[in-house]
Amino acid sequence: VTIHDQKLVRGNGGELHQIADETTDVLTTAHGVPISDDQNTLKSGARGPTLIEDFHFREKIFHFDHERIPERVVHARGYGAHGYFETYDALAKYTRADIFQRPGEKTPAFVRFSTVAGSKGSFDLARDVRGFAVKLYTQEGNWDLVGNNIPVFFIQDAIKFPDVIHSVKPEPDRGFPQAQSAHDNFWDFISLTPESMHMVMWVMSDRAIPRSFRFMEGFGVHTFRLLDADDNSTFVKFIWKPKLGLQSVVWNEAVKINGADPDFHRRDLWDAIQAGDFPEWELCVQLFDQEFADSFDFDILDPTKLIPEDIIEPIPVGRLVLDRMPDNFFAETEQVAFMTQNVPPGIDFSNDPLLQGRNFSYLDTQIKRLGSTNFTHLPINAPKCPFHTLQQDGHMAMRNPVGRVNYQPNSWEDGPRQDPKKGFRSYADEVEGPKVRLRAESFADHYSQARQFFVSQTVHEQDHIARALTFELSKVETPVIRERMISHLLNIDEGLAETVADKLGITQLPKPADAAITPRDDLPASDALSIIKN
Ligand code: HEM
Repeated sequence: VTIHDQKLVRGNGGELHQIADETTDVLTTAHGVPISDDQNTLKSGARGPTLIEDFHFREKIFHFDHERIPERVVHARGYGAHGYFETYDALAKYTRADIFQRPGEKTPAFVRFSTVAGSKGSFDLARDVRGFAVKLYTQEGNWDLVGNNIPVFFIQDAIKFPDVIHSVKPEPDRGFPQAQSAHDNFWDFISLTPESMHMVMWVMSDRAIPRSFRFMEGFGVHTFRLLDADDNSTFVKFIWKPKLGLQSVVWNEAVKINGADPDFHRRDLWDAIQAGDFPEWELCVQLFDQEFADSFDFDILDPTKLIPEDIIEPIPVGRLVLDRMPDNFFAETEQVAFMTQNVPPGIDFSNDPLLQGRNFSYLDTQIKRLGSTNFTHLPINAPKCPFHTLQQDGHMAMRNPVGRVNYQPNSWEDGPRQDPKKGFRSYADEVEGPKVRLRAESFADHYSQARQFFVSQTVHEQDHIARALTFELSKVETPVIRERMISHLLNIDEGLAETVADKLGITQLPKPADAAITPRDDLPASDALSIIKN
């Protein structure tokens, strides 16, 4: 910003006026009417009442009154940056997705990192999952990979999402705690939801207090499909690997940083990008076929399970570089609308019941939050490839169809037409079965991977998990909830359960929680699940 050597003029009451000259623009209303005085309302006499006729004042105040839009119902606090994705090798063998066809090609990208539970004004170093949402503006439509920095999730079925989020947010009677998971409602829900145990171990680990966004992994979590030109399917899990490696802070650092600089992660990303120190991630894919899916220890549709990287090695397929901050936080970071259902031809969903529910939820939440079905007209959400819909009208319509055609089929030569070859085709998955509300039995092992994660940690990392659990559960006032949690920990690691119980002053260990399936202790520790790499 250059400083303008502006002449100041004193008004009647001593107030200062900045007057336009040949070097500056003239201030106008939103309708373009030049403004003569932006310091005083129109009054009947200098000391008299304000006149209703003052359209400039009315427009200015009304616009201000409407500045806030609802914050996101989850992931309210976030920070975004622009960049690009560069494809390494053509992946045509597995997918017809245009973004993976030409080595070296760059695709524009926008990324928003976030915390989940806190409100927009909460602090950056809360113990929480971090959102890692990527919008890739591909030549065949926007692809949103709406992931987290943890590879699994709390729940297996989307119908439980309002419950887990209600439990983690401020309690409805008292309106606190604001951005902490440490409270009775959260641990009550968790202790009654054994499927959450794997995720809980990650959330109690150092992964939930990252040093910066630049040192985090990102995970698409669900199993997706890649489809080749002949509609052959390969299952895929997506992982973003930070070039800088993984780093976290420890809890007492997190607490101090939150007090001293609640914007710590924002500032870190801003400073790095402004200094030309562009953060980078590699997109890796874990590819597997139906035969692997059928033989794997767990159900590949279960979002509380991962595929250890030593079983299926992640293959790098491109890199993401963030090299530009938004010009305007609200226009871009706040108004960006991610949706899991945004996939281009060549990428498809699996039947993961959490993913299926997400595909339903995000369009609804964006319409509610951004106020109109035309949120796709906002520049940050609009595709950067040619696009032609027949949608029209609605609030804030900025691009109605040009010309006569707004329906299909039609007789006119300038209307857009569907394209069976290039257009999006779903995988023709064979589906049949009774109409039931039922969880698959193959989802029933809730402890084995939680244990595998814990034993994969170094001694210090395990100590941090024990301390985090102790701290969190020490804030829980209801004894039965604490005990229930210890009974789950007994199914994960006895030593961990005993340490936490001891520190909480629980002398009589409860019985291990009833497990639908006997927890396995034969899963080997995996290097890929350890945290501190440098
Ligand atoms: C927002 C990730 C599960 C509903 C977000 C955001 C991320 C995310 C990263 C923030 C996007 C942004 O930065 O603007 C995930 C992951 C999930 C998950 C990784 C599980 C694997 C769910 C489920 C639902 C859901 C099951 C509902 C059924 C929402 C909603 C928003 C949101 C309503 C707010 C969107 C907005 O207003 O922009 N999620 N989510 N999420 N998610 Fe999820």
